[in-house]
Amino acid sequence: MYTFSDNLLHTLTTARKIAVLTGAGISAESGVATFRDPDGLWAKFRPEELASMDGFLKNPNMVWEWYEARRKVVDSVKPNAGHTALVEMQKWYEERGGRFTLITQNVDRLHQQAGSHDVIELHGNIIDNYCSRCKKPHEYRYTSTAPNVKEPPRCTYCGGMIRPAVVWFGEMLPPDALEAAQEAAETCEVFFSIGTSAEVYPAAGLPIEAKRAGALFIEVNPNQTAITRFADVSISAPSGEALPALFASMLAKNNIL
Ligand SMILES: NC(=O)c1ccc[n+]([C@@H]2O[C@H](COP(=O)([O-])OP(=O)(O)OC[C@H]3O[C@@H](n4cnc5c(N)ncnc54)[C@H](O)[C@@H]3O)[C@@H](O)[C@H]2O)c1
Repeated sequence: MYTFSDNLLHTLTTARKIAVLTGAGISAESGVATFRDPDGLWAKFRPEELASMDGFLKNPNMVWEWYEARRKVVDSVKPNAGHTALVEMQKWYEERGGRFTLITQNVDRLHQQAGSHDVIELHGNIIDNYCSRCKKPHEYRYTSTAPNVKEPPRCTYCGGMIRPAVVWFGEMLPPDALEAAQEAAETCEVFFSIGTSAEVYPAAGLPIEAKRAGALFIEVNPNQTAITRFADVSISAPSGEALPALFASMLAKNNIL
């Protein structure tokens, strides 16, 4: 049973501009492993070998197969109650003329599958592919029914190796996505940071930018993070439980306003 203060519910039901940053933790309850938790992906694999251009060039087949394995997981899971609560919140604010911007570091597309729209993807996505040499998009898509593809397909234009459309370590974030995320952070009244360890910049800087610009900063995470000490409200619980409970409390509060 979750209880939220009247102050918090008042702020949430009267605010008009909300921004949300999500990380791997929001997909944990769907069955997608996080990165830095003790049983997360980086406990088993070295990031620089699997998520960098250098790693890809050194061992393309291993990196490709690793992403194919992650695609298989993502393909087999469903959005959870945390994703759904964000869909409902977006709808609720927009029906009232508000603005609800969802920014994600996740590459799994579960927010879109749940029904969120205009999601800002800071780290790309795991579904699409493009040529590592000429950068042209490539039509390859993972499907569970097709035979395993054990090495990167080749570009039809230049013969370069095809890579997943995720942002690797050492690469720039898509400038449009970053700019839109920063604008939302700087202008919102409430900023949620959900299921992220806030270790990877520039995404991790967004909650602090929002707070500096005057927003209420709410963190939803069962564990302490690098930015927990800056949170105005810290909801220490799994997002699949906390977010539906918070939205239900907002609706109850709104009905008696
Ligand atoms: N291209 C790549 O493959 C690659 C490589 C490395 C990092 N990255 C990026 O780094 C980003 C940052 O990492 P991150 O912060 O998203 O993941 P993370 O693994 O660093 O942190 C996950 C967080 O989720 C929390 N969590 C666990 N279960 C939860 C639950 N049920 N509800 C709410 N929170 C829960 C954990 O306490 C933790 O703080 C990643 O999203 C990823 O895009 C990508």
